[in-house]
Amino acid sequence: MRPKISIIGAGFVGSTAAHWIASKELGDVVLVDIIEGVPQGKGLDLLQAGPIEGFDVKITGTNDYSATAGSDIIVVTSGAPRKPGMSREDLIRVNADITRDCISKAAPLSPDAVIIMVNNPLDTMTYLAKQVSGFPKNRVVGQAGVLDTARYRTFIAMEAGVSVEDIQAMLMGGHGDEMVPLPRFTTISGIPVTEFISKERLDAIVDRTRKGGGEIVNLLKTGSAYYAPSAATVQMVEAILRDKKRVLPCSCYLEGEYGLNDIYFGVPCVLGAGGVERVLELPLNDEEMALVKKSAEAVSSSIATLKAMQPD
Ligand code: LAC
Repeated sequence: MRPKISIIGAGFVGSTAAHWIASKELGDVVLVDIIEGVPQGKGLDLLQAGPIEGFDVKITGTNDYSATAGSDIIVVTSGAPRKPGMSREDLIRVNADITRDCISKAAPLSPDAVIIMVNNPLDTMTYLAKQVSGFPKNRVVGQAGVLDTARYRTFIAMEAGVSVEDIQAMLMGGHGDEMVPLPRFTTISGIPVTEFISKERLDAIVDRTRKGGGEIVNLLKTGSAYYAPSAATVQMVEAILRDKKRVLPCSCYLEGEYGLNDIYFGVPCVLGAGGVERVLELPLNDEEMALVKKSAEAVSSSIATLKAMQPD
């Protein structure tokens, strides 16, 4: 039996995630969307790449959630993307309705699944998914930090003129412009990044990372990034299905860690078969902690907006 991964939302992020999953043969994919024909068409098209690329996985496209029953992982990508000039927070109303609908349909059919949220505002939608699914905190997690650190690592590799493979980095915080890249926890093959890059250039890289999603939105004009977001999502899928115990920054439910409570927030965690198996608490200095607090305030205010929107 191959693992089953359901991807809700057959837009650019969902279908590109299906592509990476198939090429890595991580499991069978069910692609769900409300638009008739789109998941079926994209699913069939991807399936027909199999004989060329040599992957043996089943790919099903459907408008019907019943095909998702018994999934090991549910990835939620459905929702509106940003347009230039919009913040991720501007999506809260439309994407909360979509998230409620998707999770209330998918979660009961796959009661043992791990849910990976990908839509925006990310931390708030992950909070909502936990609420609606009733799943334990370890089985509802948000994808953001893997993407944000990938951007940060890309910029560092470009600046230092070394391989992206050798950049290890950690980043915390909400998936917004207040996110907290952590140069003190960034190395190039174990060598502190400050040995390669000046503080001034590093500050510029941190700033570009924070606005990394917006940079792509401004270039594309009609949508947001999808190659890196979907690759990041699939790295999390792989960590869970293969029980790799990867140490990755993910949006996790916090109960006291970093002094934060009842919030989904980007923190380093151990990701394995149990989903979020452990949240890691880094010894942050005062300056880093102040940035984390600021980012947490932004996420808390978004969650408060969400709660105020909900009917009693
Ligand atoms: C980004 C959006 C998708 O960061 O949140 O690209």
